[in-house]
Amino acid sequence: MAAKNKGIAGATIEGVKGGFKKGAVYNESQFNVHGKSCLITGANSGLGKGIAIRMATLGAHVTMAGRTLDETARHAIAEASGNSNVAMEKLDLASFQNVRAFCRRIKEADQHFDIVILNAATVAKEGRLTKDGLDTMTQVNFLSNVLLIETLLKNESIRNARTSKSPLPPFQGGESAKSPLPPFQGGESTEFPPGEIPRIVVVSSEAHRWSESIDIDAIDKPRTFKMKESMKVYSDTKFMMAAYTSNLAKRLTEQAGPVISVHAHCPGAVNSNLAREAPPFLQPLLKGIFFLFFASPQKASRPAVHLACSPTLTGKTGLYYHLMNEKQFDERALDADFQQQLLQKALQITGA
Ligand SMILES: NC(=O)c1ccc[n+]([C@@H]2O[C@H](COP(=O)([O-])OP(=O)(O)OC[C@H]3O[C@@H](n4cnc5c(N)ncnc54)[C@H](OP(=O)(O)O)[C@@H]3O)[C@@H](O)[C@H]2O)c1
Repeated sequence: MAAKNKGIAGATIEGVKGGFKKGAVYNESQFNVHGKSCLITGANSGLGKGIAIRMATLGAHVTMAGRTLDETARHAIAEASGNSNVAMEKLDLASFQNVRAFCRRIKEADQHFDIVILNAATVAKEGRLTKDGLDTMTQVNFLSNVLLIETLLKNESIRNARTSKSPLPPFQGGESAKSPLPPFQGGESTEFPPGEIPRIVVVSSEAHRWSESIDIDAIDKPRTFKMKESMKVYSDTKFMMAAYTSNLAKRLTEQAGPVISVHAHCPGAVNSNLAREAPPFLQPLLKGIFFLFFASPQKASRPAVHLACSPTLTGKTGLYYHLMNEKQFDERALDADFQQQLLQKALQITGA
C-alpha cells in the first residue's frame, strides 16, 4: 500500500519535523576528499550546485555533468569554493545517445571517479516523449541513471576497492572545459584511507513512498498525464530508482564487503528550480514558499556530502537517509524479485 501523496505542504512539514530530529552528525573536519574525483549530475543549479560547492570546498576535483555547459555556474562553484578543479561535461539524461557519448569520453580520457552523485532529475508538467520515445521523467530520473552507472561500472570509470588506481586530473578534452581560476593550492591525498572505498550517492525523495504500483512491462510505454498527476509519475520514477539503488548496493557487495558503497537520501524540501514547470500563475506563490520554508541548496547538501565523505560510514553500504536521519526505503522497493525484474527491463530498454 503506497503512503499518501502529501504534496508540497506535506513535504514541507515532514522536512521541518525531520530538521528537529537528532540524526547523524555532520562534521566536515573529518572528511578527507582532497584530490578525489567527484562526478555530480545536474550541478548547474539547485541542490546539485550546492553539493558541488561543498565538495569543491573540501578539495575534491568536481566534474559537473549537465545538459548545458554552463560556464557561469562552473565559475560560481570554483569561486565560492576557492577550488579551480571544477570541470564540466555535457550529459543530457533525456538522450541515451548522449549518456553513451559521455561515458565514452570519460573512458577515452582514462578518467576514474571516486565519488558519483546522481542528483539530476526533472518534474514534467505533462506526459511528453524524449527523442528515444520514452516518457521524459522515466528516462531522465531513472533509465538514464541506470545506463550511466552500468556503463561507467563496465568501463571501470568508477574506481572500486579492487581496481583502485591513483586519481587522474579531471578530463580536459571534448565537450568539457576547465576553470580559468588559478589551481587549487591545498595538499592532496590521492589514496583512500584503509578500508575506505569509492561511493555512489543517489539523490532520492521521500516521494518514492507515494508510488502506488509499477507496471514493469509498461515502463517503456508513453504516459499520458497533466500537471495534477505529474507528482504521481515523479514518485514512480523515484520509486524505481530506489529499487535500483538498493539492488546496486547488493550487487557491489562481495563476501569481504562492498567494493563500492551505494547510499541514497532525500534532501528534504530544497529551495530550487524543481517546480519550474508549474503553471505561471502559481510560480510567485511557489517561489515564496520555497524561499521561506525550504532549505537553501548549500544547507540541503549536507546529507549528500555526509554520505559521500564521512569516515563514520566506512565499510557500510545501502544506507538511506531522510535529511540526516537513517531510515529505510519503502519496503516494496526492497523486494528482491521486483528489483531483479526491474533491472532486467531497464537493461533491456537502455541496452546497458
Ligand atoms: N527540491 C526539493 O524540494 C527536493 C526534494 C526531494 C528531492 N529532491 C531531489 O533533488 C534533486 C535535485 O533537484 P533540485 O531540487 O535541485 O531541482 P532543480 O533545481 O530543478 O535541479 C535539477 C537539476 O537536474 C538537471 N536536469 C534536469 N533535466 C536534465 C537532463 N535531461 N539531463 C541532465 N540534467 C538534467 C537540471 O539541469 P538544468 O540546470 O540544465 O535545468 C538541474 O541541474 C533531484 O533528484 C530531486 O528529485 C528535491
